[in-house]
Amino acid sequence: MSDQKTGPNHVAIIMDGNGRWAVQKGRPRLFGHQAGARRVREIVEACPDLGVRYVSIFAFSTENWKRTQTEVAGLMALFRRYIAKEMQEFMRQGVRVRFIGDRIKLDRKLRELMDEVEELTKANTLTDLTIALNYGGRDEVARASRRMARDVALGKIDPETVDETTLARYLDTCFLPDPDLVIRTSGEARISNFLLWQSAYAEYEFIDTLWPDFTPEIFQGLIEQYAGRSRRFGAVSA
Ligand code: FPP
Repeated sequence: MSDQKTGPNHVAIIMDGNGRWAVQKGRPRLFGHQAGARRVREIVEACPDLGVRYVSIFAFSTENWKRTQTEVAGLMALFRRYIAKEMQEFMRQGVRVRFIGDRIKLDRKLRELMDEVEELTKANTLTDLTIALNYGGRDEVARASRRMARDVALGKIDPETVDETTLARYLDTCFLPDPDLVIRTSGEARISNFLLWQSAYAEYEFIDTLWPDFTPEIFQGLIEQYAGRSRRFGAVSA
């Protein structure tokens, strides 16, 4: 395999630090999430110039339900407003939007908006934005295994033929290439159950900047840094 010297095709981002950013300013946590949502727009808009075709963002995890009811309700309202407001912006920017995660627990209005934006933007080809909502990597693998097991029980697949490619087809991300670069903001060096299976060979960048302070310039710096590295996928250098 040849060394990779170009920029990442797929960047996955764990947008952490909204709460701390707001608290530092003496404001409620939701104020930080609102500022975070504005950053999402700027980062998505920057992707084509940086050669990034796929960008995936962690908006709400299967563990985030443990937050206070006020914060959860505020985040859900923010997602509804964000999707409704950005719909035309996605069309203007040629962004195709898709969601990963378990939709069952999300409220009906939000699910309808998710379906609507996926349908509206499905022919866009400039940037692919994947939003993880009620997403957890282990939950995704468990749900995929359940669906695959059903197909085994129905005789649609022979269990002896099941390999990595078979399972990958049942994942929420079946339409996505694996991430090349995973970025986490706010100084925590964890991946918190985000794209566990898919990030097996990704490069990681953990940076101290809180998500609402994450500018397109910082993003560009990380992309350039990535392009300067060599990825060998377990093989030796050419
Ligand atoms: C982590 O910060 C952030 C989240 C749990 C939510 C991410 C949501 C946004 C960036 C809002 C907009 C997203 C979309 C798709 C519109 P935190 O609350 O864990 O921060 P903390 O670690 O400082 O408490």
